[in-house]
Order: sequence, then structure tokens, then C-alpha cells
Amino acid sequence: MQQNTVHYLKDYRAPDFLVHQTDLTFEIYDDYTLVKSRLLVEPQQTGVPLVLDGSADLLVLKINGEERADYCLQGERLSIENVPAEVFALEVETRLKPHENKSLMGLYESGGNFYTQCEPEGFRKITFYPDRPDVMSKFTTTIIADKKRFPVLLSNGNKVDGGALEGGRHWAKWVDPYKKPSYLFALVAGDLALTRNTFVTAGGREVSIEFYTRAEDAGKVGFAVESLKHAMKWDETRFGLEYDLDIYMIVAVGDFNMGAMENKGLNIFNTKFVLADSRTATDADFAGVESVIAHEYFHNWTGNRVTCRDWFQLSLKEGLTVFRDQEFSADRAGGLTRIENVALLRQHQFPEDAGPTAHPVRPASYVEMNNFYTMTVYEKGSEVVRMYHTFLGEEGFQTGMRLYFQRHDGQAVTCDDFRAAMADANGFDFGQFALWYSQAGTPVLKVAGQLQDNGDYVLDVKQNVPPTPDMAEKQPMMMPLKIALFSKKAGSIGEKVAFRLPGSEEEQQEAVLRVSEAEQRFVLQGVHQAVVPSLLRGFSAPVHLNFDYSDEELALLLAADDDAFARWEAGQTLYRRAIAANEAALAAGRPLPEHPALLRAVEQVLQETDDAGFQAMLLAVPPEAELWADSENIDPLRVHQAREALLDLIASSFLPQFQALAQRALAQEQAADAAVRYEYRPDLAAWRSLLNTCRAYVLRADPAHIGYVAEHYQEMARNMTHEWGILSAVNHHPGQLRDQLLNAFAAKFDDEALVMDKYFSLIASSRRSDTPDQVKAALNHPRFSLENPNKARALLGTFSRNVPHFHAAGGQGYRFLADKVMEIDGFNPQVAARLVQAFNICKRLEPQRQALMRDELQRIAAKEGLSKDVAEVVGKVLA
Ligand code: TRP
Ligand code: ZN
Repeated sequence: MQQNTVHYLKDYRAPDFLVHQTDLTFEIYDDYTLVKSRLLVEPQQTGVPLVLDGSADLLVLKINGEERADYCLQGERLSIENVPAEVFALEVETRLKPHENKSLMGLYESGGNFYTQCEPEGFRKITFYPDRPDVMSKFTTTIIADKKRFPVLLSNGNKVDGGALEGGRHWAKWVDPYKKPSYLFALVAGDLALTRNTFVTAGGREVSIEFYTRAEDAGKVGFAVESLKHAMKWDETRFGLEYDLDIYMIVAVGDFNMGAMENKGLNIFNTKFVLADSRTATDADFAGVESVIAHEYFHNWTGNRVTCRDWFQLSLKEGLTVFRDQEFSADRAGGLTRIENVALLRQHQFPEDAGPTAHPVRPASYVEMNNFYTMTVYEKGSEVVRMYHTFLGEEGFQTGMRLYFQRHDGQAVTCDDFRAAMADANGFDFGQFALWYSQAGTPVLKVAGQLQDNGDYVLDVKQNVPPTPDMAEKQPMMMPLKIALFSKKAGSIGEKVAFRLPGSEEEQQEAVLRVSEAEQRFVLQGVHQAVVPSLLRGFSAPVHLNFDYSDEELALLLAADDDAFARWEAGQTLYRRAIAANEAALAAGRPLPEHPALLRAVEQVLQETDDAGFQAMLLAVPPEAELWADSENIDPLRVHQAREALLDLIASSFLPQFQALAQRALAQEQAADAAVRYEYRPDLAAWRSLLNTCRAYVLRADPAHIGYVAEHYQEMARNMTHEWGILSAVNHHPGQLRDQLLNAFAAKFDDEALVMDKYFSLIASSRRSDTPDQVKAALNHPRFSLENPNKARALLGTFSRNVPHFHAAGGQGYRFLADKVMEIDGFNPQVAARLVQAFNICKRLEPQRQALMRDELQRIAAKEGLSKDVAEVVGKVLA
């Protein structure tokens, strides 16, 4: 295997050359595109070579008008000695073949149109440039292309000029008045339909909102347009931040490596996060559109106006912007958003933090930066920002934000600069808090509580940060632990109990304790009665928390806690315990336990009437990936069976209740939707979420119900959320009817690419025994393409999470995925490196599967021409 260069945070050096001005001209022809760049470069040092990043076809390089051939090009690094000591002009000409670019980085073609993706290091595929975020320049972009094929020519900033040329060609010139790093550059050229709107900022600036899509998709952008306007308004009211250009463009493209990209003034989006109507998008899809539109918009301040010094600081913009989009979604849709955030973190980030690719929120090294757009940088990064907020409160946090912008607007800065702004604005010592940026691994809090004879309640908190492959010894971290107490006393059971913190006379019902040591005691005074502590309320820190609750105490919290997360968590703990007990029974060949306490709790939940969305969440059992996040010697099938057995028990114990509740949810949905148009609205979504949850339990307990479903599918399936709920529920049914339903679905939506993704993910997630064959057949489906990341993820990503099939005892699931990873790696390493992370679990598996998985990893590692993306991941898994 070839050795790939490792980049280290500790090696950071300020740039030797700054770029003040970047003027780009793109001449688009049928077979190639010529890129001419002219930079104004200012040396910061004398006697050092000018080093540029680039991997395009280099035609000409000139300095101050003079052609230079005395450069040295090694890999992606061009260096040239003897450059002027004063500001000079650097001209570079490159030739690109966008139609051959399947990596979807740099300039690429999709459906006949041209798009760019430059973050993090894609700009170097376009031209030779100091492609690093601390080099910030003003940009102009001139695009010249055939007018018929490319009527729309877009780039960052404002369009200042344009016109017709000979030979049916035309041109447009764009000027971005703000300095930016190269990763925020964007260009779009093609035949696209425009949907316009306007937003007037608080300061009275009229902003032209422009959405560009394929003509046939223009009818599906209405929701995204409204979401953008909500986000713009929200950022003004909650953060005091206004938009700063006269135009905000969003372009939707079907071939895209990730969700969306915040290029200055010209966002480029995966169609999945722009296009939505209730016929083709589920309620969850709508919520996804709203949050990603908001996320990219929020980057305009947290990312673009203030950007990252280097890529190690990625969480500076991503963690903060995820925090902002989570707060936006919570303000829009309500308190359950927080539980969804936590569920996502636990299902995906906790396993990452406990696996071979674990890294701190600010990684210390990388081979391929694309591999570090992770759940840790984004989601744990957001939790870290949320902890500042929890310590400081909204006002203190906003004071910190204002200082951050006052100090750093227009700069490329570090996570330490953000931390300093929060600390200095509030006179709060965040020194120890820096460890969140350098120590990986999910801390474990072990908490014990005891009522003292004097009426005090003491909480003993022990913390342990587990070792990770990058670091063995960890120091204790500082974190907020939000707590309350609930009475266990007959007569006042479930009521909140007030207490005093030492040194304070104030009676309080909730407190944020500052945990900072390996072992610490907190005293809550004046309690004088038996209580159940409610801990980590609102999930106040991204940790595992252990407290030795009895099942009855959990049931009490589940019934009485007024913190939605804490209530939900009490239920999740009951589920986790029950599954663990099933697992132990399966391992020992004993009959499964009957779980009376859990069934009583579920029965309670089924009787609730006040919040359908929350009720659905309470009925959701933790997924396998979360259950085994930090276990060893995992037998995936046994965990799966233990979980399935619990689901079967719940379903069969309460079939009539689930049927009745489904009926009620359906009726409530229709009653709430006066016009009965089944559109997206959070209150309707809540009823549908409950309906779908109940449907899944009903079909589990009564598989024959599929006959009714098949007969009444048309009238039951009024929008995509219904369709998705029904098909997900019947998807495991072994008979013909399921195939008929899925085939009809595929035929109905044959020309809807995003719905076909749903079809492929249904195929790949079925527990049916013929799933591997159906997945292989799907590879040849006329609507499938391995080159389309959404399709690859829908079929292969989903398959890799299909526990019984991916982890099939013979290793055929592993082999299949490895083959596809290698195939995709040949043209799109970024997507391949995502898919290959399904193998991260390798060392935690029981020995036989571990050996099977290792064989596949070694086969991948030995592949000739393996990308550094996949090599980095596989190297860590095998290490
Ligand atoms: N910065 C983008 C965001 O979080 C995501 C992003 C990073 C991306 N690299 C990418 C998107 C590559 C597409 C392709 O909003
Ligand atoms: Zn982002």
C-alpha cells in the first residue's frame, strides 16, 4: 500500500502568500472547459517558494505577465522559486473535463448541467491556488458558454454584467464583494428553471431569493423557499444577524456527495433537501429540508463571514451551525426536536466515538479531510456549543456571540478564539472546557444518590473518559449536569422536590451542577424525603450516564418527569434493560423473561392523550447500533433477535390498543387537517408519526393484516408519509403481497428520483430471506445508478444497517459490501469512504464474524489504486 501524507494540527503555519484578488474566467466548450485565473499575490516572506495546490491539467503559468516553466509539480503540489518580493500577478490556465468527473468534487457535470463542489479541497481540481481556508480573497467570475445549452450562468455575489457573443455564446460576470476562502467558491451553468421570491431584512434591504431547479421540479420548491424566509427572520430575531448581499441563490442538483453546501450567495443543494411536496416527501423529509436550508443559511455568518483557520477547526463552523439549526428547528417545531437530536447522536456518534475512527471534535491529524465531516465534528460539536449555552444561559451566550463577531468578522479563526469570546464576554473560566476539543471518547458518568440523616441529598459523581485509539490517558472534563428531584413519598409521589445549593438561601427545583473532577460530591440541602433524581435533564452533556435506578423509579420518571428528554430516557432505559435480559436468556438458552414492569409502562404510554408525537417517540425501541455502541464480543444476530423479541412481545400484548390508537390517530389527523389535504404541518406530522408507529406494531402482531392493506392501499396512502409508513410496516412480510405493493410503488413513482431512493432503501432494509437477491437485482434496475450518491446510499448504505443480512453468518453480506465499496472507490472515493465505515464495528464483533470482516477489509486494503479516503478508514479499522 502506498503511504499517504498525514497532516497534523500541530504543524500549522500561517500562509507565506496572501491572495488579495482572484479573477476567474471559465470558458465552457462541449469537450472541455478552460479556466483562466489571475491572482494578486502578496508575499509574507521573502526567499520562500510559492506553493500552490492543484490537480488540474496545467496549460500555462505566468508571473507578472511572464511565462514560467521552472516550477516543480509533485502530486498535487506545485512550487516555484524566485518569485517577486512585492505584490505580483499570477496567471494560471487549466483545462478540465467536467463530464468525466464522477467524484463530484471540483467542476462536474450532472444531467447536462455544470456544478462545483469545493469544500474542503475541491478548488484545487479547478485551478492552482493556495487552497486553504486562511487565504481569503475577493473573487470575480466570468463564465462564457453556449447560450442554448447553458442559459443560466451563476457564481458567488452579484451579477454585474453579461451579454451575447458570436456563435450562439453568451457570458456573465459575477462579483463577490466579500473576501472568502477558495472552498466557498461556486459556479453553476446550465438549463435551469428559476423560482423567485423576496425577503426584506430588518434593516430594510430587499433580498432577491432565487431557487434554480430542473423545470419539472420547480413545483416542489415552495416549502424550501418558505423555510429560507423563516430562517432569515429567525436569525435576525434570535441572533441579531442579517443577510449581507442583495441576492441569495439555491441550486438543486441530483448528484451530490452530501446534503448541501453554503457557498457564498450561491448554495448548492442535494435535491433531497430542497424538493418536497406531500405526494413525494415524508414529514421527516420536510423537516430535513427545513433544517438543512436553515443550516446552510446560518453558515453565512458562522462559516463564511467568520471562517476556519484550517480544517482541523471544522467544528468551529459546523458544530456551531448545527447548534443554530437545532435551535431553529426546536423553535419551529417544538421540544421533541431535542430528543431527535439526542437519538441521532446516540445512534451514530456514540458508536463512532467508541470505534477505530474516533477523533476529538477538533481532530489532531488527518490523511483525507473529507473523512472528517463526521457525526463527531457536527453533532458532538453542536453538543459542545450547547454546553456553553447551558452554562451561560441564552443572554450570556448571545453576549459571547456578539463579541465573537466583533472580534473576528472577516477572519479565519480557531475553536480557541470562539471559546475565548464566550469566556471573555462573560467572565467565565472555560479553561478546562478546552479538553472537549482535544479528547475523543464518550465520557461515562457514574452517579449515586443518598438521602442523609440531616435531610440533605448527596449526589456522588464519578467521571471516566474512555481511552480511544488516538489517546490512552484522559483528563476529567468540565460539563453541566442538569438535575431535579422527584418525590417518592406516598401522597406526593412524582411531585418535584425543592432543594438549596450550599451557600444559597434560594429554594430551587432544578440546578445545573458543574462537574469538573474525576470524583465529586454535590449536596442538595433541605430535601428531607425519599426522592428519585432526574439526571442529565435535556441531555445537558454528551455522556453516558449510569445511575442504579430500580424499574419502579424509572417508571416514576417516565410517568412524572416534566423534562421531555428525561421522561423519554427513563423509557429508553427500560427498553435497554429488557433487551439485555432477552439477550442473556437467548445466550443461555433460557426462556425469555416476561418483562412485567416494562409492559406496565408501555400500557401507561398507550393511554396518554396529550402529545401524539411524543407518544410515538416513547414507543420507539432503541436501534441495534445504539444498543451495542460500546460492547465487546458482539453477536449482532443475537442483539437483533433480543430486540425483535421485545418488539414482538409489545405488539402481541397490546394489539387491540395499537389498532384503536391507529384509528384515533387517523381520525385526529383528518380532524386537524380541515381541508384534508394531508400536507406537512408539525401537528399533523405528530399524528401521522403515531399512526405509522402503531401500524408497524399492528402488522407485527397480525401479519395477515397485509391483506387488508393491499386491498385498501389507495385510500390509506394519502401522502408519502402514509405510503412510507405502510410500506415500512409490510416490508418484512414474506409473501407475494409485499412484492406487489412495492412493485406498484416503484411503478407509480418511476420518474421521481427521490422516491425511487425510498424504494431502494425499502428493498435493502427488509428482513425477508430473499433480500440479498433483491438487492443484487436492484443494482440492475433502470432507475438505479451506482454513480448517484443518493442511490448508492439508499441501497448499499441501508443494506449495511440491515443487521440480519449484513451480518449473515457466512460473511456474504460483508463480501457484497466490500465489492461495491471497491467499485465505487474507482470513481467517487468520498462516497466509498462513507460506506466502508460499516466495517468500523469489526473489532467489537465475536471472533468468527470478526475474522470474516477482517478478510474483506484486507481485500479492500490490497486493492490497487485504492483512494487515500478509503485507505485511511480501512487502515484505522485494521490497526
Ligand atoms: N459544509 C457543508 C455543510 O455542512 C457540507 C460539505 C462539506 C459538503 N464537504 C462537502 C457537501 C462536500 C458536499 C460535498 O453544510
Ligand atoms: Zn455545515
